[in-house]
Amino acid sequence: MIAPLVLAAVALAAAASAQTDDAAPRASVPRREQFRVIYEWNVIDYEWASAEDREIYLNTSRYIPKNVLISGINFYGGNLFVTVPRMLEGVPATLATIPVQQSDTAPRLRPFPSWAANAVGDCAALQFVQNVEVDRNGTLWILDNGRVGTLTQNPDAKCPPSIVLIDLTTGKNEMERIPLPADVINPKTTYLNDLVVDNRHDDDYAYITDNSADDPGLIVFRRSDKKAWKIRDNSSMRSMPEATTFRINGTVLNLSVNIDGLALGPPMLTTNADIDRTLYYSPLASYHLYAVNTSVLRNESLARAGQNALRSYVRDLGTKASQTDGMKMDAAGVLFYGLIGNSTIAEWNSTTDFRTGQRTIARDPTYIQWVDRFTFDDRGNVYVVINRLYKLITNKVSLDEVNYRILKSHTGSKSYVWAEEPAGARPVPGSAVAHAASWSLLLLACARVLA
Ligand SMILES: *[C@@H]1O[C@H](CO)[C@@H](O)[C@H](O)[C@H]1NC(C)=O
Ligand SMILES: *[C@@H]1O[C@H](CO)[C@@H](O)[C@H](O)[C@H]1NC(C)=O
Ligand SMILES: *[C@@H]1O[C@H](CO)[C@@H](O)[C@H](O)[C@H]1NC(C)=O
Ligand SMILES: *[C@@H]1O[C@H](CO)[C@@H](O)[C@H](O)[C@H]1NC(C)=O
Ligand SMILES: *[C@@H]1O[C@H](CO)[C@@H](O)[C@H](O)[C@H]1NC(C)=O
Ligand SMILES: *[C@@H]1O[C@H](CO)[C@@H](O)[C@H](O)[C@H]1NC(C)=O
Ligand SMILES: *[C@@H]1O[C@H](CO)[C@@H](O)[C@H](O)[C@H]1NC(C)=O
Ligand SMILES: *[C@@H]1O[C@H](CO)[C@@H](O)[C@H](O)[C@H]1NC(C)=O
Ligand SMILES: *[C@@H]1O[C@H](CO)[C@@H](O)[C@H](O)[C@H]1NC(C)=O
Repeated sequence: MIAPLVLAAVALAAAASAQTDDAAPRASVPRREQFRVIYEWNVIDYEWASAEDREIYLNTSRYIPKNVLISGINFYGGNLFVTVPRMLEGVPATLATIPVQQSDTAPRLRPFPSWAANAVGDCAALQFVQNVEVDRNGTLWILDNGRVGTLTQNPDAKCPPSIVLIDLTTGKNEMERIPLPADVINPKTTYLNDLVVDNRHDDDYAYITDNSADDPGLIVFRRSDKKAWKIRDNSSMRSMPEATTFRINGTVLNLSVNIDGLALGPPMLTTNADIDRTLYYSPLASYHLYAVNTSVLRNESLARAGQNALRSYVRDLGTKASQTDGMKMDAAGVLFYGLIGNSTIAEWNSTTDFRTGQRTIARDPTYIQWVDRFTFDDRGNVYVVINRLYKLITNKVSLDEVNYRILKSHTGSKSYVWAEEPAGARPVPGSAVAHAASWSLLLLACARVLA
């Protein structure tokens, strides 16, 4: 069942770029290669143990093809990792891989780490994965929300919301499951949506968006002691009434979805010679992009200081032409993001003013229907998942049409996790010094691989 490959020349819409462009002198934009469709699916299928297995899953409604939507994407060692959130019933595996190099244009998903590790109701297995990240040490960070059927009448909190870590460098794919405590994250209402990982000299941190309808916030997770805390800010993390209406190729729907996509800027030197980074985020139903220093988020006492404690640290960078789901920053601080109502992929160099620095890099009403997530590989390519999420939400998925695509473009960039630290940072005191030394060896090794 090899579908003909459609090489969509997605327009480089220089003439039709975002309205903000007109007001500002046009900065020199590096010429981007056009996005090409590398995979497209009417329906997502898996690599089954046997044809009989597939039939059993179909017969027992554990595989309902029209309910299987790809959402998140990441890259490691020649594979793309794709996530399949269990928003509806009939999703047999929630995390899977596809080899980057292959001839099939609608490849089957291989459950990762295994079929068994994707069993619904088994709390040693993955339940509901919306996004994953691979850090610079080859560790896969998996957000497992634990609750399945989020778009059904009866969402079911099967297992505690957890962070699951897999060291991909060993090839053993052993899962370390770290449940998040119920007093920090309510398992009945939380929605662990997306994450970025910050490999610091003193520790590894994950910043996670919880787009819970009841209690949205940013969860900070520290790896060394597995501690997590949640920071809330109503004014920047909740949906905004003026942005709850989505228009995609004639479909109109209302979604008041809270804080969703996020991105991490390159390390910067503070006046105290510490390393800090900027975290960028936006609610799905919002036109605004917000920024906050991660040093502020890492301060645990801020989480206890109540609702308005974060407000003075949050910067509103300005507005976008439409709503954004996923976003991703490269190592040079260039943000890639979608503009849902404009069928557009856009970029912004974060050293420039957001209000005038946004650029359209691709626009196409046929091929770009709901930009979900981005990833970079190790060869300067960016990949993006387009998934027509609005069709799933409105129960209008038709298996006679292409529903899911992965587009690719060569940008010469790599993920924010590889961003270099500026010189002059204070050495990390105590035991962490040894840590820092092995770190620079690792950097050298990686520099060679990437050269
Ligand atoms: C699946 O259902 C069909 C129709 O009811 C039946 O013929 C078939 O034997 C079933 N397959 C399996 C593996 O149970
Ligand atoms: C990288 O992972 C290895 C294996 O888990 C671990 O021993 C090492 O400490 C990690 N290094 C960093 C910098 O996190
Ligand atoms: C969306 O919300 C707007 C404003 O509240 C309302 O006028 C409109 O009818 C709603 N549309 C749909 C499709 O629900
Ligand atoms: C964020 O960090 C940068 C670099 O240290 C600093 O210049 C800036 O004032 C900080 N912003 C806020 C709002 O704290
Ligand atoms: C952490 O946050 C608390 C509460 O807002 C504040 O009093 C304290 O000064 C902050 N600590 C640092 C190191 O910024
Ligand atoms: C934040 O918003 C929620 C929902 O609108 C409301 O219940 C809560 O009181 C708000 N908190 C603050 C501090 O404004
Ligand atoms: C982008 O889409 C929004 C609707 O989401 C629309 O109001 C706006 O005019 C569009 N902007 C451009 C530049 O096409
Ligand atoms: C971002 O903008 C700055 C200032 O204009 C420029 O020096 C830098 O080269 C740009 N970065 C990229 C990756 O285009
Ligand atoms: C966009 O909408 C039109 C009109 O409903 C429809 O004919 C067309 O197939 C749609 N395009 C896509 C790519 O869904």
